[in-house]
Amino acid sequence: MPVPRVLRSALFIVAASVAVLAQPDPEDPTPLVDKHYNYPDGIPYQVDYNTAALRGPQVGYNICNSTTENQQSMCQTSFVNHIDDFCLWAPPKPNSTIGATEGEEVAWCTKPGHGTRLIPDGALHGVQVLKTPDYIQIVGFIDQSRINLTPNDYGGELDPHGADLRGNPLGGLMYSNAFSGSNGNNDLYQQITDWTNFIGANAFCIKVCDPAKNTGPALCQNIYDRLGCAYNAPNNAKNGTFEVCDADNMTPPGVYVSGGTTITYIQPPESLGPVTSVPYTAMVPSSSNCVTYTSAALYTALPRSINPVATASSSSAPAVGANPGFASAPVATSSSAATVMGISTTGGFLGVLFAMVFLS
Ligand SMILES: *[C@@H]1O[C@H](CO)[C@@H](O)[C@H](O)[C@H]1NC(C)=O
Ligand SMILES: *[C@@H]1O[C@H](CO)[C@@H](O)[C@H](O)[C@H]1NC(C)=O
Ligand SMILES: *[C@@H]1O[C@H](CO)[C@@H](O)[C@H](O)[C@H]1NC(C)=O
Repeated sequence: MPVPRVLRSALFIVAASVAVLAQPDPEDPTPLVDKHYNYPDGIPYQVDYNTAALRGPQVGYNICNSTTENQQSMCQTSFVNHIDDFCLWAPPKPNSTIGATEGEEVAWCTKPGHGTRLIPDGALHGVQVLKTPDYIQIVGFIDQSRINLTPNDYGGELDPHGADLRGNPLGGLMYSNAFSGSNGNNDLYQQITDWTNFIGANAFCIKVCDPAKNTGPALCQNIYDRLGCAYNAPNNAKNGTFEVCDADNMTPPGVYVSGGTTITYIQPPESLGPVTSVPYTAMVPSSSNCVTYTSAALYTALPRSINPVATASSSSAPAVGANPGFASAPVATSSSAATVMGISTTGGFLGVLFAMVFLS
């Protein structure tokens, strides 16, 4: 099967079920996670350009520089470095849902210099970074309408696999200097092939796993795509707080201990309807050494415009056809971001679940 990296994980049985679901597109059979490029010189203009592939060609590009750095940028090379320097995947056109545009998302960053769009000033309401031995996790609160999301979109999951292994977004690359020290030296950027990301309901979580560790397939896996941040990126992020903490690794998503036995939960298939209960609550790993910041000190070069893409009708994004990986969405009933984040003890289960409908 084409996803041997996933099979290395301890969650062999669960991963195998996804391998059965995933079908590489015959026109573009190399999985995105097997495409490796050094930053910046090894990166091609597009990593996924095959016009005959089922979901169409990549809508943006991967070579991003000062000429592509503007609010119409179609840059699809993303970074997760530090609390003041990370990017989110969000739609190229205003008032979009993740579900309808998962293959097309572009990078929106907190800092100039990556050739991308910038998250407008004041859109971030709180951000928590957990630095653990094996991964960096960024969880936050955002006014998602300012990065082109429909205000009430409960969102979805983005990851480097997708049902056709071309990734969501198609051809989206991820880099980080978080694991190799940071001195502004491009040589220190490492490509990240194990990452996971949820965004919606004015909140997000993004986790990148250290490529030097062999835990990425388990800790950053993408098969629990209907369970949201609380299960995939357990955290105690607070709206209004910007902080960086050290933390332990989480227990791999899906794994829990009950009565002394370690059990692996398997997410039910979509055909069985919305997930209404999960037999465990994900534990937030213990954290320490938290340092808090003001957003004004962190994000010093962001555009102030209220409508950052008011001219989006002139965006260079070509129209994209029907998305075969997307099924109609259940309505999330109580999706306040607090429940999305799993920090509410009163939220209904549906809200906590941040219900998803995508294949990973
Ligand atoms: C800048 O990026 C654009 C878009 O990928 C590319 O066409 C152009 O060649 C790049 N310019 C340089 C100097 O690399
Ligand atoms: C945004 O999209 C929704 C449908 O998803 C639509 O009902 C609404 O009118 C749109 N809003 C704007 C400002 O275009
Ligand atoms: C976070 O707090 C801000 C006010 O500081 C509020 O406008 C926003 O709606 C809150 N976000 C969430 C997701 O609750």
